Amino acid sequence: METELKGKGALVSGASRGIGKGIALALAREGCSLAICAREQGPLEEAASELAEAGAPQVFARTLDVTDREAAEPFVAAAVEELGRLDVLVNNVGGNRRKSFEETTDEDWDDLLELNLLSALRLSRLAIPEMRKAGGGAITFISSIFGREAGGAGLSLYNVTKTAMISAAKIMAMELASEGIRVNSVAPGSIRFPGGSWDRRVKEDPEGMAEFISANLPLGRFGTVEEVANLVVFLSSPQAGLITGACIPADGSQGRSLI
Ligand SMILES: NC(=O)c1ccc[n+]([C@@H]2O[C@H](COP(=O)([O-])OP(=O)(O)OC[C@H]3O[C@@H](n4cnc5c(N)ncnc54)[C@H](OP(=O)(O)O)[C@@H]3O)[C@@H](O)[C@H]2O)c1
Repeated sequence: METELKGKGALVSGASRGIGKGIALALAREGCSLAICAREQGPLEEAASELAEAGAPQVFARTLDVTDREAAEPFVAAAVEELGRLDVLVNNVGGNRRKSFEETTDEDWDDLLELNLLSALRLSRLAIPEMRKAGGGAITFISSIFGREAGGAGLSLYNVTKTAMISAAKIMAMELASEGIRVNSVAPGSIRFPGGSWDRRVKEDPEGMAEFISANLPLGRFGTVEEVANLVVFLSSPQAGLITGACIPADGSQGRSLI
């Protein structure tokens, strides 16, 4: 299938490693120009070089903390200036803070709402006028299976914020459909990559993780970054023209949600 992404401009937040970098690389291989950000400069620069090698005609990489509200607007403006257009946004930055609900503080809620939800909404608001100018576009939120179903004790901060992303994507999809801007969310299961959280846990506790795999991962293995990235490429492509307002799992049936 021809993705028709060649020559498009794509912004992926948090693309210096892991899932975000995998998505940016997959979009680069389709011929997209890429704008990426992360907080740490070294890995971001390495990722930018890999994107150019993978075929991205233009790469714009800037150190940015997406929770810095003032920094988002100049980042998106500079990205559009460099790429010449913006057709694709992937809201990938996200994180977890595990603690019992009773121990969570207002600061925890402020921090995780900002990191997982508000920063993504802000980048989306800034991207929409640029997509309008380009004649349409695609926004994808990287949520989690724990945005679709209860993750369990200790996960209120993660669960609530990841669910809110799915909810926001659905309403945005309804509002923007008539302008050719599609909005979806993706719900990865447990994705392992070198240096990632699952990789660390497997190395620290191989037996415990073997039990986790046999109890929770029907495929008998973790998911890969490429398996999530391929889905995001498809959702970002005009080939996914009928898909908007959807939340699609990439989880090897790890999730227990019936819908
Ligand atoms: N891995 C999984 O199994 C899994 C499963 C379900 C959902 N997800 C979701 O998928 C997304 C990516 O996960 P991942 O495992 O690839 O994460 P990761 O390894 O922690 O990578 C996160 C990326 O975002 C950047 N980043 C983090 N905080 C940032 C901030 N405040 N501002 C700008 N950049 C920031 C990081 O670079 P710096 O540290 O240099 O900023 C890095 O490039 C997250 O939303 C996560 O919740 C992951």
